[in-house]
Formats: sequence, structure tokens, C-alpha cells
Amino acid sequence: MNEQNHLELTGVSIDFPTDNGPFRALQDVNLKIGKGEFVTLIGHSGCGKSTVLNIVAGLHQATAGGVLLNGREVREPGPERAVVFQNHSLLPWLTAYENVELAVKQVFRGKKSRSEMRQWIEHNLELVHMTHALDKRPDEISGGMKQRVGIARALAMQPEVLLMDEPFGALDALTRAHLQDSLMEIHACLGNTVIMITHDVDEAVLLSDRIVMMSNGPAATVGQILHIELDRPRERLALADEPRYNHYRSEVLKFLYERQRRPVDDSAPANRASAEDDVKPKRFARLRIVGG
Ligand SMILES: Nc1ncnc2c1ncn2[C@@H]1O[C@H](COP(=O)(O)OP(=O)(O)OP(=O)(O)O)[C@@H](O)[C@H]1O
Ligand SMILES: [Mg+2]
Repeated sequence: MNEQNHLELTGVSIDFPTDNGPFRALQDVNLKIGKGEFVTLIGHSGCGKSTVLNIVAGLHQATAGGVLLNGREVREPGPERAVVFQNHSLLPWLTAYENVELAVKQVFRGKKSRSEMRQWIEHNLELVHMTHALDKRPDEISGGMKQRVGIARALAMQPEVLLMDEPFGALDALTRAHLQDSLMEIHACLGNTVIMITHDVDEAVLLSDRIVMMSNGPAATVGQILHIELDRPRERLALADEPRYNHYRSEVLKFLYERQRRPVDDSAPANRASAEDDVKPKRFARLRIVGG
């Protein structure tokens, strides 16, 4: 965690225009992230996690405040900030190889020869263990495999910052565990700065250097930041018996269910719909898997 001011969010607020006037989703979000740091954002559904990520990605503009990456203001998307979305977002008519190739050409055209590009594409697909399915299209591979191609595509852009919005949210527990392990290996190897959104408390503790817990919206902000001081490499089975691991996990749960309990009369229809896949039920199921 050198270069503490690698990525800085300062006084970030955003208003979305709605039929009832501006809706303030975020209010005065401040966060400094060091180079190579792995930060997860956690908070109840609808609090503004994706909005924070999208502002860092340059997909949304803050209404007030802003984001600096290496001292330069983020105003638009750029290849040094790759995004992995929850639903892979691969182009369906391209193979796994071609999906990665498209991103590689965008970044390395004129900088790498054809054969270097080929090697680089294969190398990144190898990192996520996908070399056996280079020529398959998205509809011919499983959800976990699609997600791995999406991660390979992001990594192949050699981004300084990897932005991941619930990248494993749609996957079964075993595939998810496998991808978490791959991600930890890749991060150890490449040292990218990572901001990842998750609803999964165990995932957050396992992967993070810091967990940024967000308060409920509207006007959501950073509620509490938890430093995860567990040695790396981390091994999920060993961690299940580690008292500090369990302490961190309960700190996050306390924040979510004591300090930031969802209001009972959550009346916004959009929020009600997404509350179904909110933190609680799935998370406790997963807590048992890791703990048991
Ligand atoms: N383009 C938009 N226009 C209006 N309101 C928006 C827009 N995008 C997001 N919002 C609102 O901003 C708030 C934060 O949304 P956001 O998608 O960032 O939440 P989230 O924490 O990522 O939720 P989830 O965990 O369900 O993905 C929500 O109330 C949402 O309805
Ligand atoms: Mg979201």
C-alpha cells in the first residue's frame, strides 16, 4: 500500500434527475485508495455502490466533488480503469478469444505486433483457466466461464485499476470460491488496484485489504472502513478457525444489521425488487459453508 493517494474520491455527491426532481444518491463520499490495494464496497441494496464504481469508471459524472487517479481528474472512461460487470457483458457473436481480442486491440494497437497480441490474449485467458474454450461463444459456455472471460478481458487491458461490480454475484458457491481464489492469485501477481462491490460478507473479508461499508441512501456515504489485517496468501479453510477473521466478519454484519438496518417500509419499488437478492439470506447460507 504505497502511494496512498493513487486514487482519491473527494467530496463526491451525485444527483440523478427524476420526475420528482433531483435524487441525491451519494453525499460527500471521501476515500483514498493506495496503489495495489484491494478494496471492497459493501452496503444494502440501492445504497449507491454501483454509482460510486461508475463514477470512478468515468461512466457517471459527480454533481459535486470528483475523482483523481494519479493526480489527474477522471472525466470519462479510460483503458487504465477496466470494469467487470455482474453479467459478464460479452459480445454474444464473438468467441471467448475474440471478446478479449477486441479489448486488446483497443489498448495495444500499434504497440504490440500481431503475434504479441495473440500471445497476450492467450496468456490472459490462461490466467483464468479458459484456454480450453478459446473458440467458444458465450452461449456455449457456463456462467462461471463467461465471467472468467470477462475478467480475462479486463485484465488483458492491463488496467491500473480493476473495477468489479458484483462479479461473482450470479454464480454458485463452488464456482464463486474458485474464482475468488483465482482473483487473489492474479492480484498477488499483477498488483492492480481493485475496487470490488460485493453483497457477500465472507467474500469481502477474504479478499480485501479494506472493506468500505456504505450507509443507506438517499444521500449515502462511507459509513465505516474496516482494515483487514490478515496475512496473504489467504486460505479459506484455515481462515474459518481464525479468530480475527470471525471478528472482521461480525464487524461487517453488525454494521449492516445493527447500524444500517434497512428501513422496514422500504417503499421505492426499484429498491423493493432488488431487496430480494439483498445481503441477508444468501449471506448466512454462505457463512455456514465457509465456517463448516
Ligand atoms: N440513472 C439513475 N437515475 C435515477 N436514479 C438512479 C440512477 N442510478 C441509480 N439511481 C438510484 O441511486 C441509488 C443508488 O443506486 P446504485 O445502483 O448505485 O445502488 P447499489 O448500491 O449498487 O444497489 P444494488 O446493491 O442493488 O446493486 C438507488 O436509489 C437508485 O435507484
Ligand atoms: Mg449495484
